[in-house]
Amino acid sequence: MAATEIKKNITWVGALDWDRRLFDELIPLPDGTSYNSYIVRGSEKVALIDAVDPVKAGDLLENLQEAGVTRIDYIVSQHAEQDHSGAIPEVLEIFPEAVVVTNEKCKAMLMDLLLIPEGKFRVVADGEKLDLGGKTLEFILAPWVHWPETMFTYLREDKVLFSCDFLGAHLAQSRPLLSDETRTLRAARRYFAEIMMPFRLQIRKHLEKLKGLEIEMIAPSHGVVYPRPALILDAYNEWISDRTRNLVLIPFVSMHGSTREMVEHLTGALVRHGVDVIPFNLIHTDIGELANELVDASTVVLASPTVLGGAHPAVAYAAFLANALRPKLKFASIIGSYGWGGRAVENLLASLGGLKVELLDPVLAKGCPKEGDFQALDKLAAAIAAKHRGIGVLP
Ligand code: FEO
Repeated sequence: MAATEIKKNITWVGALDWDRRLFDELIPLPDGTSYNSYIVRGSEKVALIDAVDPVKAGDLLENLQEAGVTRIDYIVSQHAEQDHSGAIPEVLEIFPEAVVVTNEKCKAMLMDLLLIPEGKFRVVADGEKLDLGGKTLEFILAPWVHWPETMFTYLREDKVLFSCDFLGAHLAQSRPLLSDETRTLRAARRYFAEIMMPFRLQIRKHLEKLKGLEIEMIAPSHGVVYPRPALILDAYNEWISDRTRNLVLIPFVSMHGSTREMVEHLTGALVRHGVDVIPFNLIHTDIGELANELVDASTVVLASPTVLGGAHPAVAYAAFLANALRPKLKFASIIGSYGWGGRAVENLLASLGGLKVELLDPVLAKGCPKEGDFQALDKLAAAIAAKHRGIGVLP
């Protein structure tokens, strides 16, 4: 994509990664992603805000050339993760006069990760300002969105917030400014689920802090630029709230059909109680979709056969993921079948240890489910419906 001015003297010079399908070798990216970098020109100084993933350094350098950048005074590094910092060494080679402006923690990480020499840095503190001549960058430390060293940059005169990973989306789009609110919000929610959800409490503090700023545009380092900040800020306020939906997720694996039969029975029983259900067959599921639905589901029911004395590894992984993402789930249970015994329930319960959920009685069938098992599943469905009524999500 070509260098694009998003506001007077603020130019997008980042890179698109249409083909990237996995991030951190963990997170599926159905819509690719972008690494956004911005040039801010004051009357005296020029700043580059974030670099790009090292595999796309060439795109950044081309865009800098296209934007007519002949000098960079400051490279503002908001986050040391390599998708925003990896190209800094190459930028420094072309623009050796540039100084890397960042906070103390980020400086240490950049020295560790990219071997940038200590003499290339200017360290800034929370609230410190940098005058470019008619454009003032103000730095706001924002730990844990995404790493402990992350910071935002607020351009006071233009009321632009550069939010780095925060408020972003894994979305490649041929123009940097938002053009499709529905598509963007869908990608932003999935991104929130996969990356930001574990930090809900920190996000609350950051959003509170941002209330003190007049913001007319949000320019994150992934996805698109928001010319109407309320769109993404309102969405985040909802996603981090304690509110959940009348929704049960059933991540499952079935080897010979018994667990599937139980999942189908439970799904039908829940629907008859007026509870929404999404079963995820983990053999085919995009794990990002499961994460996305964890944003506001009230209940998860893990469904697994017993393999080598424990839960199926795909279900164990889903439990691990749910535990790590810290969703606002209120209730959990486990169902499944076994041949001759095992510790599937204990395995899964141990994996869910970090969640503040109320556990509802598990239902385990020996072999294929029988009348007593179906009755137990009906009882579980009734218990879930009652719990959902209790928290006010089911009338
Ligand atoms: Fe987009 Fe945490 O890096």
